[in-house]
Amino acid sequence: MIGRSHAASGVRPAGRQPWWKEAVIYEIYPRSFRDSNGDGIGDLPGILEKLPYIRDLGVDTIWLAPIFQSPNRDNGYDISDYRAIMPEFGTMDDFDRLMAKASSLGLRIILDLVVNHTSDQHPWFQKSRAAKDSPYRDYYIWRDTPQGHPPNNWPSVWGGSAWASDPATGSSYLHLFSPQQPDLNWDNPAVREEVFSIMKFWLDKGVAGFRMDVITMISKIPSFRDMTPEELKAPEYVYAAGPHLHAYLREMNDRVLSHYDVMTVGEAYGMRARDIPLFTDSARRELDMVFAFDIVHVDRQGWRKIDWPLSKLKQVYAAAGKPRSPDSWNTVFLDNHDQPRAVSRFGNDSPPFREASAKAIATMLLTQCGTPFIYQGEELGMTNLPFSGVEDFDDVQVPIQWEARVKRQGVDPDAFLESLKDMGRDNARSPMQWDATRNAGFTTANRPWFRVNPNYTEINAQACMQDPNSVYHYFQALLALRRKYPALIHGTYQDLDPDHHAVFLYARELGRSRLLILMNMSDRGFTYESSSLTRASLLISNMQHRGATQGVTWLEPWEARIYRA
Ligand code: GLC
Ligand code: CA
Repeated sequence: MIGRSHAASGVRPAGRQPWWKEAVIYEIYPRSFRDSNGDGIGDLPGILEKLPYIRDLGVDTIWLAPIFQSPNRDNGYDISDYRAIMPEFGTMDDFDRLMAKASSLGLRIILDLVVNHTSDQHPWFQKSRAAKDSPYRDYYIWRDTPQGHPPNNWPSVWGGSAWASDPATGSSYLHLFSPQQPDLNWDNPAVREEVFSIMKFWLDKGVAGFRMDVITMISKIPSFRDMTPEELKAPEYVYAAGPHLHAYLREMNDRVLSHYDVMTVGEAYGMRARDIPLFTDSARRELDMVFAFDIVHVDRQGWRKIDWPLSKLKQVYAAAGKPRSPDSWNTVFLDNHDQPRAVSRFGNDSPPFREASAKAIATMLLTQCGTPFIYQGEELGMTNLPFSGVEDFDDVQVPIQWEARVKRQGVDPDAFLESLKDMGRDNARSPMQWDATRNAGFTTANRPWFRVNPNYTEINAQACMQDPNSVYHYFQALLALRRKYPALIHGTYQDLDPDHHAVFLYARELGRSRLLILMNMSDRGFTYESSSLTRASLLISNMQHRGATQGVTWLEPWEARIYRA
């Protein structure tokens, strides 16, 4: 079975590139993927039913957002039993069947490891909060202060204090996210043992690795000092600065990961780009890859959406494409369950441009340096959701932010709402659009758990299947091209026109194979000239075939091409 431990050797076969460098990963948000039993909530049998669809796209690995038992304050990112499947999603038998079917189709599955915090409903926390002398007290981070005042000025990353005073013992516990997500105390060796044993439980079931939720935050700075006003603007950098982070990851690697041929990808929230190799340099034996946040910051400052020049995006990729340690490997992602839809964000989702821009962005996503992550619906060019007011949002983050920013800090409610519409996480969480029938074929229930985007009659998987020029088929073609040209995976990276305001042109080169990737990232067409195109031959384009003459070419709005040079 794929992803099983190589029990005897313990590690991957020597001399071969690790499989995850050549993998393409597809993220599923199970709640919104496919509902098999008509209760309005996506589930594991629903995923099983759609495995051939995922395989046919040309990806080889699936990342399942949390599937464990949870009261769903944060849709599964608040776990109350790490060894049980969320009943709404199915049973352990459903999971085993899903694993077996995936394996028979050549698909690996990785799980979401959410161990910076648990749910407040987890038995550990229930016992921890009950009494100061509970053996579980030190599983979490408690402080005693007069009258339940917060022990310091730390904010939760979504706003408001990071401390909640608990009536049972009168002490306060730390929660970097919602109050229902108390932070685990990783300085307690018993907590680390628990985590390692949970990891082994799933790895022994054959999962191919983990995406590690906010893993950068597991070690807290021991002084628990107040943050400075400057630090308070981006507290995640303080939360990711704990002194034992790397030691804990190394311990996890030694104790668990090194015994399996699996991949890890950590969410590097609060990490600066220059520190990324500290996690991913293979000689350090910590993680294989991380999600860096530079791409997320291109058009965002705090809660606010900002204008961005194309040069900013290019700089992110140029920095990522610079050879660092030879054994440090990147991820490439635009969409995920925390981000608005890429086509609405980096492209243009209005009808004349949606398909072309979704394809142009896909061209970028699948040809940059690193393992690409596709999020469900991205392959259809799914767009942001229309919202009219703050009450339209489901995300736990929204009322917390609204309270902190609008009610307490006096941020203009209209400005805040506008940013939320553009940047809100719920944009990604609407049900997958399978076909043009009611509720987009996601569920037979009258009401899905969350609103379907009304554009499903036009944008859906079935329509994409039938149209040879669809976004889906373009993704498929790009993925096939990646398999054919290793330069797209292992090649060097060179930006050939870093200053152009609308054209993104770069080269990937491996030995004698050199590919050129050219995109017009704008709504306007124009003539473009580059000597690099002179002897290049076209491999794929999102428009009607068009060559370059003497390096001069006309580019349609959002036109994308890949050439062999
Ligand atoms: C990560 C997850 C996000 C979740 C948060 C707290 O950022 O991606 O969805 O809300 O961690 O677990
Ligand atoms: Ca269901």
